[in-house]
Amino acid sequence: MFEVKVELREALIIEGGNRLEGVLKVSGAKNAALPNIAATILTEKEVILENVPDLLDIKTMNLLLESIGAEINQIDNGIFSYRLSNPKSFSADYELVSKMRASILVLGPMLSRFGYAEVALPGGCSIGARPVDLHLKALEKMGAQIKIEHGYIKAYAQRRLKGSHIFFDKITVTGTENIMMAAVLAEGTTVIENAALEPEVVDLAIMLKKMGADIQGEGTHRIVINGVKQLNGTTHRVIPDRIEAGTFAVLSALTDGKVIIENYPFEYLEYVDKVLEDIGIYVIPVDKNKVMIKREEKLRPVNIQTKEYPLFPTDLQAQFMTLLCFADGVSEITENIFENRFMHVPELNRLGANIEIVGKTAIIRPVEKFSATDVKATDLRASAAMVIAGLIAEGETRIHNIYHLDRGYEHIDQKLSNIGAKIRREII
Ligand code: UD1
Repeated sequence: MFEVKVELREALIIEGGNRLEGVLKVSGAKNAALPNIAATILTEKEVILENVPDLLDIKTMNLLLESIGAEINQIDNGIFSYRLSNPKSFSADYELVSKMRASILVLGPMLSRFGYAEVALPGGCSIGARPVDLHLKALEKMGAQIKIEHGYIKAYAQRRLKGSHIFFDKITVTGTENIMMAAVLAEGTTVIENAALEPEVVDLAIMLKKMGADIQGEGTHRIVINGVKQLNGTTHRVIPDRIEAGTFAVLSALTDGKVIIENYPFEYLEYVDKVLEDIGIYVIPVDKNKVMIKREEKLRPVNIQTKEYPLFPTDLQAQFMTLLCFADGVSEITENIFENRFMHVPELNRLGANIEIVGKTAIIRPVEKFSATDVKATDLRASAAMVIAGLIAEGETRIHNIYHLDRGYEHIDQKLSNIGAKIRREII
């Protein structure tokens, strides 16, 4: 039913400088929908998910679930039903896993429900080494035997996994989600220490509890899970995408049009909004769920450190770097989460930015304008930075490798055309 078609030669062509006016609606969060879908593996009952964004990564996850035997039906726009009563395979194949690192999220639930799982070692964005060692160590601590053979993680559990005390050496978002899903059907109590606090982790806990799981402490660094024998079906709505919302805020400030952002999740963006205010950009509520972005004429330079939630998200780093090119002074952004997440810097410099990388810090010196040229989308979030840059650059920017964008930004070209951007796709 699902197809993941990637046209590698497709480019996005943006004519900069057009005035934007209208409503940009924030979609369901990719990073919430992916674990929500993986969680449907945990029950033989039907689970309905609403507000699921139409993204390549979601299609990949759906295909992965279908490949292990799930029946998936689209009930309406963004509404899907999932049911995995008879598994037909316990293996998540390389072809799918290599497209998306978050495929690792099926490991915990498969192992927990079936006692066996094979998942190819993941691929995805090339932003650093991004190992999955913490996921595997935690599953081993819960009694799983794990072998890496021929590029596959092969995990066995004798009967049920065992509740255990897990201490993550480093905060990991999908690691916390994977172990939470493994623990809900394990025998006994699992305590996850140094757990991730991200809203997507909290939302997964809420969904699992609706399915009958016994979880406490989500949203803190110590999550306690008492295993239960089985889980039920439920209906769950995917939370709004805080990263897309933050991207829209930056885009709206830089293009200085009359843009209204719908479904802006204030509660997840408190720190980001504070940074925006430091820069001189204000998120003003205008109606229920709707905001407008107002800015001071001169933007102030700031120093940003990417950190785990509730601090500044690495997934908004590239977009804020684009913004800070137009501040009235020198800014710095230090990337603390991923070691190779500055691949957009040479691309921004090609457009006229003046950014220097010193170790894990980017020094951003102000420029007057960007002038359009050919650039590459180097990873998912960097591709959003290129779109923002293209909207303000003088002339026509051609963004190559835009399949990265389609992995994580729902119908972005359509959303932007609807508010007056001149943007089109072309096979180059
Ligand atoms: C998730 C998000 C991604 C975001 C990232 C950080 C999803 C689907 N993706 O990715 O958009 O950029 O959080 O907020 O939710 N690490 C290890 N060993 C492991 C696991 C992680 O060393 O086993 C390291 C990573 O290399 C990285 C850091 O821990 O340096 C944090 O990574 P993690 O939180 O796991 O990122 P993801 O869950 O992959």
